[in-house]
Amino acid sequence: MEIYLDSANLSQIEHAVELGILDGVTTNPTLIAKEGGDFENIIRKISQVIKGKGKIWAEVISTKSEAMVEEAIRMTGWATGMVVKLPMGLEGIKAASILSREGIQTNMTLISSVSQALLAAKAGVSYVSPYAGRVDDIGWSGSGLIQGIVEAFSAQGFATKILAASVRSPHQAAELVRSGVDGITVPYGVLIGMAQHPMTDLGLDQFLKDWSEAGLQ
Ligand code: G3P
Repeated sequence: MEIYLDSANLSQIEHAVELGILDGVTTNPTLIAKEGGDFENIIRKISQVIKGKGKIWAEVISTKSEAMVEEAIRMTGWATGMVVKLPMGLEGIKAASILSREGIQTNMTLISSVSQALLAAKAGVSYVSPYAGRVDDIGWSGSGLIQGIVEAFSAQGFATKILAASVRSPHQAAELVRSGVDGITVPYGVLIGMAQHPMTDLGLDQFLKDWSEAGLQ
């Protein structure tokens, strides 16, 4: 299972990297905008924090395939381990086909249907990102979407990996992994929440209380 932190916030990234379990950091234009400042500079700073030990995902802002390709090629020079995110759509697919042939790591993002994921896989992207939470938000089934993509990719033997995105809770993260995705990207709060459980806290409190009451050092 691959696990990424979905954030462009350097202190969140620093803390998550210290855990030693991350495969990298995913960003999107909203997350970059939240931090403010220069896009390239933010990506370079993230790269310094992860010290080349993971992938950095960044999304093109262009909307036409030719410009997407140019932007993507430029972005790969910003850091090692760059994965270029392309927005799902006909222009994104065109750009993905070109970039895949060039051997550039790509992700088709904003995937909301199985049919979109199939076209992205045919274009040769390295990853598709189905947005589970946002599909749930409009009353459809994010887990159903992801299950459908897992089944279709396995039936066709596609090499494209499935990275579940828009994950809103530790429970949802675990359920999506159980359904067979290759990885998840989670916001900082969900990552921290994945390590926590009230029964674990109660159990540890009891252990420490018993230890101290017995007068042990
Ligand atoms: O970064 C892509 C995705 O994970 C965004 O999630 O919570 O904004 O729908 P969310």
